[in-house]
Amino acid sequence: MLAIVATLLLTAAGVTSSPLERRATDGLNARAVAAGKLYFGSATDNGELSDSAYVAGLSNWADFGQLTPGNALKWDSIEPSRDSFSYANGDTIVDLAAKNGQKLRCHTLVWHNQLPSWLTSGGFDNATLITILKNHITNEVTHYKGKCLHWDVVNEAFEEDGTWRSSVFYNTIGPSFVPIAFAAAAAADPDVKLYYNDYNIENAGGKSTSTQNLVKLVKQYGVKIDGVGLQSHFIVGSTPSQSAQQSNMQAFIDLGVEVAVTELDIRTDTPATSSAVNQQAKDYASTIAACKAVAKCVGVTIWDYTDKYSWIPSVFSGQGSALPWDENLKKKDSIYNAILSAWGPAPTG
Ligand code: G3I
Repeated sequence: MLAIVATLLLTAAGVTSSPLERRATDGLNARAVAAGKLYFGSATDNGELSDSAYVAGLSNWADFGQLTPGNALKWDSIEPSRDSFSYANGDTIVDLAAKNGQKLRCHTLVWHNQLPSWLTSGGFDNATLITILKNHITNEVTHYKGKCLHWDVVNEAFEEDGTWRSSVFYNTIGPSFVPIAFAAAAAADPDVKLYYNDYNIENAGGKSTSTQNLVKLVKQYGVKIDGVGLQSHFIVGSTPSQSAQQSNMQAFIDLGVEVAVTELDIRTDTPATSSAVNQQAKDYASTIAACKAVAKCVGVTIWDYTDKYSWIPSVFSGQGSALPWDENLKKKDSIYNAILSAWGPAPTG
């Protein structure tokens, strides 16, 4: 009774919000921000944006303070013909984030995948490909200047054993395609944070070491690199431990960059058993706890928020159920609550 009276008095005085409003300000992102991070966010894609229930969940700032376009900013979408740029899909997601007050991770400028055939089959020599690379980056980064918190400048440049991945860029230009790309991005938008982004670099090993060498390489060229994105596409029960993730994050930070968890999902065989879901909740919590514990881990992004639109079943047959919301957009309470408590207390005031 006393508590109700106190709430009424404070509300009447404009001091606090009602319990309902307070609940609406708590969520995955609100907790991340309360823990000192910039955001907790989600990837999204244009095809999903006609699903109004999905968009309502995605637009809830309390859960998602940041969006990453899953496909719209990739080369084949942006420059399908040489020197002809197409920004409509990208703009749709950028505008949605702005409307919702959400930050943006812009993904991705240079990747071996989702390239148009004019580029992969063009037979361009070194000098011409460098011109094409710079032109693409300059156009796209200029178009989105001031809109992106981060740009994933180069994505997935290494094979699993840490050797350079064969790609049109590496095969034609060599490793210097990386500093060339970062320099072009920095020139087009000096304020955006420039990231290298990859998977299976979330704990110590050959691929993480190669990525650390890439950071050094870019810096040796005198070029700006601000961060490393740890994609974190994990498998239930095989997720690196919290301490392994933390020490790996620290190894990057010791080189003078920040880190972000950029594409987190934790897949399992489907249908998921209850023991798998229990383990999944613990696995989500250990990645969140690692980011929370490391000051220069700036935020966590999940690779879409619902199994309805996850990329996993189409690539890993018989697997999925990797995200905190199910295929019917229903929140999985055990995973959601594990993420909430790993971030720590709800925001106050
Ligand atoms: O847009 C076409 C559509 O016109 C066509 O009808 C349909 C038929 O298959 O395909 C559509 O394109 C698909 C595209 O997603 C958009 O939905 C491609 O086939 C499909 O391959 C593509 O998959 C994307 C994948 O990257 C490509 O490698 C996933 O959505 C996207 O989530 C995934 O994201 C990557 C990150 O960029 C980098 N890290 C790994 C991550 C997961 O693979």
